[in-house]
Amino acid sequence: MKRSIIAGIGKYIPEHVETNDDLSQIMDTSDAWIQERTGIKERHFADKHKDTPASMGAKAAEIAIERAGISKEDVDFIIFATLSPDYYFPGSGVLMQRELGIAHTEIGALDVRTQCTGFIYGLTVADQFIRTGMYKNILLVGAEKHSMGLDFTTRGRNVSVIFGDGAGAVVLQPVEDENRGILASALHSDGTHAEILAMVNPGSHGGYHHEKLGLEVDFGFSESRYDPIFVTRKMLDAAQLFPYMDGPTVFKIAVQKFPAAILEVLEKAGKKPAELDLLVPHQANLRISQFVAKRLGLKEDQVYNNIQRYGNTTAASIPIALCEAWEEGRVKEGDLVCLAAFGSGFTWGANLMRW
Ligand code: UT7
Repeated sequence: MKRSIIAGIGKYIPEHVETNDDLSQIMDTSDAWIQERTGIKERHFADKHKDTPASMGAKAAEIAIERAGISKEDVDFIIFATLSPDYYFPGSGVLMQRELGIAHTEIGALDVRTQCTGFIYGLTVADQFIRTGMYKNILLVGAEKHSMGLDFTTRGRNVSVIFGDGAGAVVLQPVEDENRGILASALHSDGTHAEILAMVNPGSHGGYHHEKLGLEVDFGFSESRYDPIFVTRKMLDAAQLFPYMDGPTVFKIAVQKFPAAILEVLEKAGKKPAELDLLVPHQANLRISQFVAKRLGLKEDQVYNNIQRYGNTTAASIPIALCEAWEEGRVKEGDLVCLAAFGSGFTWGANLMRW
């Protein structure tokens, strides 16, 4: 039976380091607050003009492709996960295809919009294509450029101190060995709380969901059929073009859903938490990771965290962390590795694999 293995992995981290102290200069926050609540010490911010999710994704992809021992032309499908795409449309997948110089191959490119869980969804979709034999070299990328649109005033401090930029990529290939590769996956979503962690503008909602939920938000729409609802003057003036997060509520649900998804994939594969060589959780908050580890009875060396240096890079956080763990020798052939994420939507899920 075919299984999917990660044959190559790469990452791209933009050069600029933004420290907590740097942020303290522009808003009312402090290194102590940020470290105590999130574990974050610093994050990297993309170059405004040169680094995009597609361009950063391409840089990470080139490394993953080389490490997989294939050429760019061998890639037969692209999956691109991001919540901060280069354009509203088309998706960043085709832009990265062009950036890699393989647009002429005309391979399919699929964009995934499941935020922090983007890499887990992408990996699970890729796994199905590999298992059925449809594709043999899938390039899966998670990339984010959060710094393009955060509210860097005190008003937005609960969100803006958390996020960072970067990209991670993997190449998935088939193996004829049912004890290796992706053993089990779990994908979930619950849209009940969609607006609790969201960037609703620009969009085509026209206020519909807020009205249905009984939320009184004035987005400044005019009644003229011909006036745009995508972006209004009010949205700009009232800071309605930034991400919103009810952090404490997200935290409470995250610490329930992370362990549930991890236990679900372990159970599907007949494994126990103690058998895990490494858990690579989405890097949302160090306190969440620590809580999850405690809940599952995992030892410190069974969990990989690097949020301290990168912040939360959403769809990129798992492939960046997995890449770094692999580069440090923390992931070796035969290791039982679990990836898990929870985030906006809400969406959550996990993958269990034998490296
Ligand atoms: O990856 C997507 C999934 N996202 C998550 O998993 C995030 C989950 N949530 C969290 O990680 C935490 O809720 C945060 C780190 C976002 C916030 O931590 P918290 O302990 O939940 O803080 P809070 O929002 O309850 O705010 C506590 C206080 C407030 O002040 P008052 O009302 O007590 O006076 C905030 O205004 O901290 C204040 N505050 C800050 N102070 C300094 C909020 N942000 C900051 C800040 N610096 N950056």
